[in-house]
Amino acid sequence: MQRSLFQWPRRTWDQQGGKYMESSCGSVLWFTGLSGSGKTTTAQHLYKLLKAEGRSVELLDGDELRTAICRGLGFSREDRLENIRRIAYVANLLSKHGVTVLVSAITPYREMREYLRKHVAGYVEIYVKCPLSVCEARDVKGLYAKARRQEIRMFTGISDSYEEPEQADIVIDTVHQTVQDNVLHITEKINDINHLA
Ligand code: PPS
Ligand code: MG
Repeated sequence: MQRSLFQWPRRTWDQQGGKYMESSCGSVLWFTGLSGSGKTTTAQHLYKLLKAEGRSVELLDGDELRTAICRGLGFSREDRLENIRRIAYVANLLSKHGVTVLVSAITPYREMREYLRKHVAGYVEIYVKCPLSVCEARDVKGLYAKARRQEIRMFTGISDSYEEPEQADIVIDTVHQTVQDNVLHITEKINDINHLA
């Protein structure tokens, strides 16, 4: 089967036909990083690019899903783990049908990312790298100021940990690079990954 950018062949056993079936599975590009690092912005730009190319693509944003299928979950370790598990479940459903899935969620713990690598087909980890000091200076939603005043508990980077990814497939720098540069970098890297696989 011809491999195309963001897609890879999936081989499944067809019980009735008694043979292996090849189908095209979408990649799951998982953006991890601190709040305000640029996960949503980068994923949205990539989403628009892929849509414009006529690709089947979906964007799952942690912040948004917390008002939908992840409603009621907080920011304790257990709730965050459950949050990521639910997003992973939906991502798998979509990618199985050939959709390229973009996920933007903090995904702060190593344990979560190990889980994703094991359980999400076509998982590509993208570390949206931006120092805490810069995220805090940006403070787009005013959440860092609230966290410093202890009005928000368990805030990532302030009162809860962000364990820096050590084996990200792609690292983007949102301090020195533009969003356009980063989107281009991601597409080039995905191309490399597909050729190596
Ligand atoms: S996680 O850790 O992956 O489950 O988080 P996620 O689902 O991506 O949700 C992060 C968004 O929730 C808002 N928010 C907080 N973030 C971190 N810590 C605390 N305590 C918190 N409280 C609210 C915040 O807007 C995050 O969105 P982003 O887009 O990352 O800034
Ligand atoms: Mg966001």
